[in-house]
Amino acid sequence: MEDILELDRNNIPQSIAIIMDGNGRWAQERGLPRSSGHIQGVENVTRITSECARLGVKFLTMYAFSTENWNRPEAEVEVLMQLIADKLEDEIFMKNDIRYRNIGDIEKLPPSSRKRMLECMENTKNNKRMTVSTALNYSSRWELTKAMRDAVREAQAGHIRPEDINEEYVSQHLETNFMTDPDLLIRTGGELRISNYLLWQCAYSEFYFCDTYWPDFHEEDLHKAIAAYQHRQRRFGMTGEQVTKG
Ligand code: FPP
Repeated sequence: MEDILELDRNNIPQSIAIIMDGNGRWAQERGLPRSSGHIQGVENVTRITSECARLGVKFLTMYAFSTENWNRPEAEVEVLMQLIADKLEDEIFMKNDIRYRNIGDIEKLPPSSRKRMLECMENTKNNKRMTVSTALNYSSRWELTKAMRDAVREAQAGHIRPEDINEEYVSQHLETNFMTDPDLLIRTGGELRISNYLLWQCAYSEFYFCDTYWPDFHEEDLHKAIAAYQHRQRRFGMTGEQVTKG
């Protein structure tokens, strides 16, 4: 497809993270069960994945299920897990030369979902164009706590000294150690919060919030988000003048 807005092809965010919110409301507003919203949501994952690949994005990281989502009604959790087992297909990844990864604790997932995810990771591991990650049974506080525990264990075993723990060490001990930090974080569905997602990694990300529910967030909405990103000045703690002077 054509770019809907004039996008600067030399300034496409290389790493995009998405909080896909609004599936439930999308369905409820149509008098449908919440599960229909999740089914549409998965269709949209395919659509946005293809478009990101076409635009040259290198890392796309999508929040699919947080550690807190286990508190949802059992039937809804079951639908989400089943969707992951059924809809995670190698085809779209192989067609687009995409590597699939997951961030989060997959040990606690139902065996059929875990098996499908592990197969998909294995089958796509040599693909190079883009890495798509689901964040499934993920939360940032869980990940940071785990990294701290690892550091203490390594120190107690005498492998590292406290002064060896720096930002690089922390980044390398997070689930996301294979990717670059998000340049752009998108949240659909109208809420203005980050919901325990990539707290460390989003230190300098540009945030884009929109009211559109995830199933309706199509290519043109992605283009709007990228166009907004391209109008931002990323300063990384410097002054605007320093950045423009290079
Ligand atoms: C938020 O909508 C969405 C989720 C909790 C689940 C998102 C998961 C998917 C789209 C499935 C991903 C699957 C694959 C195979 C990648 P919500 O239910 O919180 O919506 P609401 O805020 O309107 O209630």
